[in-house]
Amino acid sequence: MPTTKVLKVSSEELNSRSIKEAADVLQGGGLVAFPTETVYGLGADAFNETAIKKVFEAKQRPNDNPLIVHIANFEQLMHTAPFLPAPAKLLVETFWPGPLTLVVERSSSVPDVVTANLNTVAVRMPKHPVTLALIEEFGRGIVGPSANVSGTPSPTKAEHVYADLGGKIDMILDAGPTEIGVESTILDVTVNPPVVLRRGGLPIEKIEEIIGPVDTTAGRNFLNRSPGTRHRHYTPKATVVIVNENDLRNYKQVISRYGHKRIGCIVHSKLLREFETQHCSVVFVDSVQELSKKLYDSFRRFDQEGVDVILVEAISEQGVGGAIMDRVKRAASGSTMTKSWPEVMKQYIS
Ligand code: TXA
Ligand code: MG
Repeated sequence: MPTTKVLKVSSEELNSRSIKEAADVLQGGGLVAFPTETVYGLGADAFNETAIKKVFEAKQRPNDNPLIVHIANFEQLMHTAPFLPAPAKLLVETFWPGPLTLVVERSSSVPDVVTANLNTVAVRMPKHPVTLALIEEFGRGIVGPSANVSGTPSPTKAEHVYADLGGKIDMILDAGPTEIGVESTILDVTVNPPVVLRRGGLPIEKIEEIIGPVDTTAGRNFLNRSPGTRHRHYTPKATVVIVNENDLRNYKQVISRYGHKRIGCIVHSKLLREFETQHCSVVFVDSVQELSKKLYDSFRRFDQEGVDVILVEAISEQGVGGAIMDRVKRAASGSTMTKSWPEVMKQYIS
């Protein structure tokens, strides 16, 4: 088992020695977790099969779930995916580097283990000075699945990576909490209109401003297009229940009725701002951006505290809100009842 070395790096003052050390680990076929603007990724040489297999092992990831290749320049893009359709070119020009992953025709040089034998490859240029410096220094594309154990909330801090993968990977580059906090938007541009396979940090509305309407519903019906969506994702151990402001009005009453179990709340309406009891732990957020940044961290924190039920106050699905509600619904895996949540609670808390 490797000892996991944690190196602090600063985006403002890039330490070339740390970057070089991390690139050397990648060169030797090792695994380096790195920050991006969305979540932390688990890096390995995208063209080294043995290294890729280690990524699947460390994450306990099913082999049929392909990886995103992260690149830092045009040459690396051409080496990974040489044929971009016109809409893809426009998106690249407008949004890269940034939280947009494109599914495109793959180059034959990309190993099958990366794409899980699909004839497409997912590729993205992240917007984080540390990531870009690392990939430039290394000189080739690197894979970058979220640096968590499969199924758990994605890591938005180096501590989250360490908690899941400490002792299983060689190095973590720690640049502090990530800016966006949810993963990149994934768009399949091999079809017309392009299909959204995962909502994420780049709002669909912004994509449509550039290339016109995209299909936001087909992704669900074409699971083979994004095998990752088959697997359970983004889930804390606690049961997640989506509530609205009205539900929260009954909050105190229900807590006193079911308060023998611990409850965590992620809310934005002022109702709960001041309210914290021994039975309830509140994360208050002021904006959609703050929610996006704190969602996974709160899930992980509540699990550590041994919370049984997490109540998440619903938000509008516009902009990044679309990605956030997608993750919250998946975490609630179907129990998205906003009607009578005391009834929902009864079901979960006996
Ligand atoms: O923000 C992000 O995208 C982060 C950071 C680290 O860059 N990475 C990330 O990777 O979220 P991962 O592996 O956790 O999620 C990638 C998703 C998976 O659901 C996978 O199934 C899908 O991308 N995917 C990868 N290649 C694909 C392909 N060729 N076709 C369809 N879906 C693909
Ligand atoms: Mg992931």
